[in-house]
Parts: sequence; C-alpha cells; structure tokens
Amino acid sequence: MCSATVHPPIVKTVLWRTESDTQAFARALAGSAALRNAFIELRGDLGAGKTTLVRHLLRALGVTGRVKSPTYAVVEPYELPGLAIWHFDFYRFSDPREWVDAGFRDIFASPGLKLAEWPQQTAGCLPLADLVLTLELLDDGARRVTLRAQSAAGLALSQSFIHDFDSTSGAIEKGKGVFLPQANEAQP
Ligand SMILES: Nc1ncnc2c1ncn2[C@@H]1O[C@H](COP(=O)(O)OP(=O)(O)O)[C@@H](O)[C@H]1O
Ligand SMILES: [Mg+2]
Repeated sequence: MCSATVHPPIVKTVLWRTESDTQAFARALAGSAALRNAFIELRGDLGAGKTTLVRHLLRALGVTGRVKSPTYAVVEPYELPGLAIWHFDFYRFSDPREWVDAGFRDIFASPGLKLAEWPQQTAGCLPLADLVLTLELLDDGARRVTLRAQSAAGLALSQSFIHDFDSTSGAIEKGKGVFLPQANEAQP
C-alpha cells in the first residue's frame, strides 16, 4: 500500500520578549538544512510580527536589499545561490481560481522555501505545511509563538531551533528543550 508516513503533530510554545528574540529564532532556523525545501505557515493577527520574522529570516539567509511585505502582490520571490524562496501574504487572496493561473500550484510543487502569511485565506489550496508558527501579541508586547511540526522536515526545523535558541536567549517558555505532544493528538 502507498501511504505516506504520518507524523503526529508536535507542538511547543516559546516567547519572544523583544524583536531580538525574533531575530535569534530566525537565525537558528536559517542554520537548518531542512529549510532548503520546506513550507512554513505563519499565522496570527495583523501586527503579530509575521512579516518581521520573515524579514529576519531572509536577512539571516543572505537576502540583501529591501524585503517588501507582499500584501498587495501576494507573493515576493527571492533567489539565493542554490535556494529559491517565496514569501506569500494571502491576506487579499479571494479567488481560488487564481491559485493555478498565478502559478502558485507550480511554486508549491517546486523545491525551495515557501513562507506563507494568512494561509487560512486560501480555502484549502495549500499543501500540508511542514511547520506552522502561530504568533500572538501579549499585553506586555511580547509574542507568544506556538510551533507545530507536521512532518519530518518540520521536526528537524524545530529541533535546530531548540538547540540554538535555547542556549542563546533561554526564551523557551515551557517544556524547555522538550517537545510537548498534544495529549489528544499523540495517540495513533
Ligand atoms: N518580536 C517583536 N517585538 C517587538 N515588536 C515587534 C516584534 N515583532 C514585530 N514587531 C513590530 O510589530 C509591528 C507589526 O509587525 P509585522 O511583522 O508587520 O506584523 P504582521 O506581519 O503579523 O502583520 C511592526 O512595527 C514590528 O516592528
Ligand atoms: Mg504581514
């Protein structure tokens, strides 16, 4: 039988107290080989810090020049030696017919790094993300970030992050260095 390996989602939470925590997180992610072919969803309200994370990540990967928010264009492509990157913002995406016409289906079938803000606006067009980051702005201005790894690549990304980020800023909020399987999801 042809069945893909199913990875139970693995969830953990971290805290970014300032933008330098966002930057430390981005740098740790950028050091992971798994990022070279990965799809990461960025969820959270307007102003939660999704584009800011993408900016730090692109800089850490070596993108120079301006990193625009793709709110109007829907996608901004970047080309680094040996690495294609697409930054999507689906906030204004409303017509699923656009998915094929605009070439988005082809992009998601290509190797490279895909980062998507507002994935919930695509009405189910997207493939399963390797990693889902959900950002939440707290009253004190910190960002609570939930990481949900949904594949082997997502797990590898999360692990690279723990190794680096934990040792540099210590901003792991709970389950220090240990993934917390969701009780209702960990069972087969
Ligand atoms: N970790 C952070 N700490 C403090 N301010 C942040 C942080 N992340 C983002 N911001 C600020 O929040 C504002 C909105 O961020 P942005 O990344 O555009 O949000 P989003 O893309 O989720 O709508 C920006 O002014 C940015 O500088
Ligand atoms: Mg944004």
